Amino acid sequence: MIKMSINKDLENGFVLRSACLEDAIRMEFVQAMCYPTLHQSEIMDRRHFANHIKVFPEGQLVVEKDGVVIASTSTFRSEFPKHDHNFLEASDNLWLTNAQVPNGEWLYGIDMGVLPEYRGLGLSKEMYKARQEVCKQLGLKGQITVGMTIGFGKVKDKMSIEEYCVGLEKNEFTDPTITPQRKAGFRWVRPVYNYINDPEAGYASILMYNPVDENYFI
Ligand SMILES: CC(C)(COP(=O)(O)OP(=O)(O)OC[C@H]1O[C@@H](n2cnc3c(N)ncnc32)[C@H](O)[C@@H]1OP(=O)(O)O)[C@@H](O)C(=O)NCCC(=O)NCCS
Repeated sequence: MIKMSINKDLENGFVLRSACLEDAIRMEFVQAMCYPTLHQSEIMDRRHFANHIKVFPEGQLVVEKDGVVIASTSTFRSEFPKHDHNFLEASDNLWLTNAQVPNGEWLYGIDMGVLPEYRGLGLSKEMYKARQEVCKQLGLKGQITVGMTIGFGKVKDKMSIEEYCVGLEKNEFTDPTITPQRKAGFRWVRPVYNYINDPEAGYASILMYNPVDENYFI
């Protein structure tokens, strides 16, 4: 039984709402469009999304335009990660069944995707805000994300992934995924190397958190 749901009208006729089983096919399409270089074994499909909605309905959100899903985000409840891990370990091989901690204090985001033609309109910002609202309503400490350093691919001939992460932390340049996350309030913890099987990201991601109480620091 879903403990809370979201249904919010956004600007330009977009609607942000809790996902339902009928959305799983479109969520699969959005996923395929958003991760062109991610290894097939880490791409989620309709079976995974349908299972997420059964395991933790409060944490699965979509944005639709004219009744068609054009963006989605997937999360689960967890404790704050003590050790480095990879994407498949974190997500119970994409299923979330054994990843979900029913009384976990944090909301761990494993996916945020906006179809390319709808990017730059503030939709990811709205979805990160809605995820923070889920945290507040469920009494969680905040969000966790391990964001992929997807911009590394464009400079991989000029620097190592370690140098890229050092420069990114100091805001010497922006990244198409990490920058929107930091602008949404996420705080840098550390790079996690070999987190994700995506050569464009240098197989790396950045562990970050966004606490509900801004005076809370890990
Ligand atoms: C990352 C992603 C979700 C961003 O979605 P979006 O809806 O286009 O982002 P928004 O329009 O909400 O932008 C939020 C902020 O980030 C900035 N931003 C967005 N894309 C950016 C980019 N490529 N480079 C630098 N800054 C960027 C925006 O200017 C905005 O800044 P503002 O708050 O100062 O206005 C989208 O690009 C995407 O789906 N990428 C592929 C999948 C992916 O990498 N997901 C994250 C997995 S960890």
